Amino acid sequence: MSTRIGTPWTQGATRVALLGSGEIGKEVAIALTRLGVEVTAVDRYDGAPAQQVAHNSLTVDMSDPQALTAAIRSTGAQVVVPEIEALATEALVALEEAGEVRVVPTARAVRLTMDREGIRRLAAEELGLPTSPYVFASSLAELEEGVRQVGLPCVVKPVMSSSGHGQSVVRDTSQVEDAWLRAAQDGRVDRGRVIVEGFVDFDTEITLLTVRSRDPLTGRTVTSFCRPIGHRQVDGDYVESWQPQELPATALARAQEVAAQVTEALGGWGLFGVELFVVGEEVLFSEVSPRPHDTGMVTLASQRLSEFELHARALLGLPVDTTLRSPAASAVVRSPIEAGSGVCFSGIEQALAEPESDLRLFGKPVAHPGRRMGVAVASGPDVPTARERAQRAADSIVVASEQPGTDPA
Ligand SMILES: Nc1ncnc2c1ncn2[C@@H]1O[C@H](COP(=O)(O)OP(=O)(O)O)[C@@H](O)[C@H]1O
Ligand SMILES: [Mg+2]
Repeated sequence: MSTRIGTPWTQGATRVALLGSGEIGKEVAIALTRLGVEVTAVDRYDGAPAQQVAHNSLTVDMSDPQALTAAIRSTGAQVVVPEIEALATEALVALEEAGEVRVVPTARAVRLTMDREGIRRLAAEELGLPTSPYVFASSLAELEEGVRQVGLPCVVKPVMSSSGHGQSVVRDTSQVEDAWLRAAQDGRVDRGRVIVEGFVDFDTEITLLTVRSRDPLTGRTVTSFCRPIGHRQVDGDYVESWQPQELPATALARAQEVAAQVTEALGGWGLFGVELFVVGEEVLFSEVSPRPHDTGMVTLASQRLSEFELHARALLGLPVDTTLRSPAASAVVRSPIEAGSGVCFSGIEQALAEPESDLRLFGKPVAHPGRRMGVAVASGPDVPTARERAQRAADSIVVASEQPGTDPA
């Protein structure tokens, strides 16, 4: 079997339905488009970043199984590429089972990873991988009991949430009720269920980008690893990342072993972001995205192929190359303001005057304080230099309310 790619907007087109059109989806859409794939970018609102660069766009409520099924069918896509977690995954499972589409990497992987309970039980209980101690709770009373079992300090998170939403660190028992309320308010759905995890006092936290792709010689699925990415999170949300993050040799071998096992259990082709905590030579599994990872935006500057290009190639059954080209770093640009109809970026020339730097402005139509609006990346002779450059570039960007009719010159 070989991969054939048709021509967009013709009958023979290779069509992908991209579910979620944020900044990650935008880069995936660009990578697929460069390979001649016809991309339909789907989101719940009009004008989302990936919709601005894809061939076609659709706006639907992707948590509604009927609406999602109809939307996917209307695109004529052979392949469905989820970018976000909040999807009616039962619809994806049904479409895949009926043989109508291939879901990347698999519908089961997408279903298991949208829910912290699904992936944690798979990793810890089925695969026996090391994780922090954990308990699930569905009420305040269960949470209080869970905190007693896990011990203090611990981290409480809604089972369905991302980017640190609804997450709190509990350091003494007086904080348990607040943690419960916060999780209930900020969790995505199923408001009443949380995971309690023992707080890991890690030396380093890494994302190990792991690619499952088809070996062109044997036709078998092979696993490749990118160099570890180090990152810093504030309130559970990523603010900067860098690559490579050096690890003790034993820890690196363990990290790759954990990543190989968890991605093999999820199956399919594509790139995965495996999040791991490193404590000395020990490695604990934290979570995994069956898609490019936000901390992996650094690969736009560091690797021969970015994580988006690797995902595009792998999901099409094409060979990959995870070579690191240079140490590099990324730093997030956030909005300080609320803006209902677009923002205006300035300071761009200062940012790009930074040596070896580059910028991605996502084009999000609406801003909230703290919302991720762009990212600066930079390479350098070593990681500390790259981090300084990326941070300075990001700090140069000023995000303000849009001035109607501003002339870019
Ligand atoms: N058990 C833990 N111990 C220590 N830090 C944690 C723990 N769980 C989460 N964190 C911190 O919070 C961040 C976000 O948590 P994570 O589980 O990755 O949620 P999300 O799905 O929102 O990314 C992690 O990258 C890490 O910095
Ligand atoms: Mg995470």
